[in-house]
Amino acid sequence: MSAEPIRAGSEYDPTSWPEAVQNPGFVGDTGEFAGLTEADVRGTAFIGRRPADGGHASVAGTLPYHTATKDPQAPIFHGPYEDRLEKILSRYPDRQAALLPALHLAHEIRGYLSPETQDEVAEKLQLPPAYVRGVATFYTMYNLAPVGKYLIQVCTNISCNLCGGDAVLEAFLKHTGTELGETSANGLWTVIEVECLGACGFPTAVQINEFYYENVRPESVPDVLARLT
Ligand code: FES
Repeated sequence: MSAEPIRAGSEYDPTSWPEAVQNPGFVGDTGEFAGLTEADVRGTAFIGRRPADGGHASVAGTLPYHTATKDPQAPIFHGPYEDRLEKILSRYPDRQAALLPALHLAHEIRGYLSPETQDEVAEKLQLPPAYVRGVATFYTMYNLAPVGKYLIQVCTNISCNLCGGDAVLEAFLKHTGTELGETSANGLWTVIEVECLGACGFPTAVQINEFYYENVRPESVPDVLARLT
């Protein structure tokens, strides 16, 4: 069966759907709830409010993942982050089992996992450096090189692809003046293409640092970038 391109204006073209069936996702596109803000739609109870010590141990290992404020030179596992690591360790039977959240914590603080950072994590968890290196380089969610203040991850997997993900990716590259995976000269932007972000019902899905943007269209991109600067 050959794939037919989606005809503009057809019933499969989401831009032709009535506003009432467009979901309240990306701010400014709240469909039948027009007039609500992103805070109204999503709430503000926890988004972007994760304390440095992680709060309760049950959530200490969960992620902001990537924040605008990061410092590649900052000490890791000091002060509140030492408390956070202790909380993470308390949830696992041994230190090896805590490696992924420990790497995430270092990643959150420094923005990427340099070989030196990986060695520091290995020392802290009393693991062989080569083992930590193998894990850090296996998972694509760990940045192994510095990225911009805003890491823009555009999903181009099947659902988003069918709804114009490639055009959204092109729009981010154009409006940030970057090439795929490269950081802009002003240090603000890095745009990458990612596999499914798990928001397939709201294509195109884009993750910028710790926030999700849904139903993003190429024409939305300047608005999204303007909100960040
Ligand atoms: S295909 Fe894009 S979020 Fe799943």
